[in-house]
Amino acid sequence: MTIVLRDKASLRAWRAKVTDGTRVGFVPTMGALHEGHMSLMAQARSVADVVVVSIFVNPLQFGPNEDLSRYPRPIEADIEKLEAAGVDALFLPTVEDMYPQGASTLVEETLVSGPLCGAMRPGHFKGVTTVVLKLFNLVQPHVAVFGQKDAQQCAVIERMVRDLDVPVEILRGAIVREADGLALSSRNVYLAPEDRAAAPLIYKSLQAVAAAYAGGERDAEKLRSIGLGVLAQSERIRPQYWDVRDPESLGAITTVGARGALCAVAAHLGTTRLIDNLVIG
Ligand code: PAJ
Repeated sequence: MTIVLRDKASLRAWRAKVTDGTRVGFVPTMGALHEGHMSLMAQARSVADVVVVSIFVNPLQFGPNEDLSRYPRPIEADIEKLEAAGVDALFLPTVEDMYPQGASTLVEETLVSGPLCGAMRPGHFKGVTTVVLKLFNLVQPHVAVFGQKDAQQCAVIERMVRDLDVPVEILRGAIVREADGLALSSRNVYLAPEDRAAAPLIYKSLQAVAAAYAGGERDAEKLRSIGLGVLAQSERIRPQYWDVRDPESLGAITTVGARGALCAVAAHLGTTRLIDNLVIG
């Protein structure tokens, strides 16, 4: 049975009863659970004795023109998936409980958060770091698992944990994809059929760049234009960025060196924004 903890007080009471020496694994989510989320829970299970999942659609990380109000919230189906996966506890707080009136403290990482999604979604990562640190303080996990699907989010959280001495180990889980390569995302349900048909070009653009890299291409700008060239095969895809960056700091690079590179892409299809990435080298 998955115990459902609907506020901070019941989570704290539950956590206080977890005995010393029990390893707590944690997977934070915004719900609308899919196989990508479930793989992170399986990974947490493999390294922890109890697994806690949170479902909280965090208003702080959505911009004014983003999809907060229409974000999918199939909570009954989600709870069934957690039960089937043997998750021990679900933390399902309300916005009022997480952000009481007058809350005036934010957590901000100022380097890794800058480029890519940070540049396109001002304030987004500040919302992520604030809620994730709050969740860490409440759940007090020994280990937390985040998906490589959101590579920049992983890098930002790893930085925050290092810089603020947060006593939690961060693990990354591999990207789970559809058979045609499209990375699973809660937002895929928004896609019109024609956009869904075009969407696999996003992963194809990453694969084309990986192939060029394997063939010896090291120039970041050339790799980038190969990726954009693949996206241009469909006029339904409106790229927001296609970038080649240092895999850890996400700093700009001109040549892919020994550290390898993160290739990261964001694009709109209709009103839906999709992201994907691949590490080369
Ligand atoms: P959400 O988008 O629900 O994602 C929860 C976790 O699932 C994240 O770590 C994300 O990277 C991972 N994930 C999503 N799609 C995946 C896929 N196809 N394969 C593997 N992992 C995948 O990310 C968030 O929520 C929020 O920002 C959160 C961290 C919960 C803070 O609010």
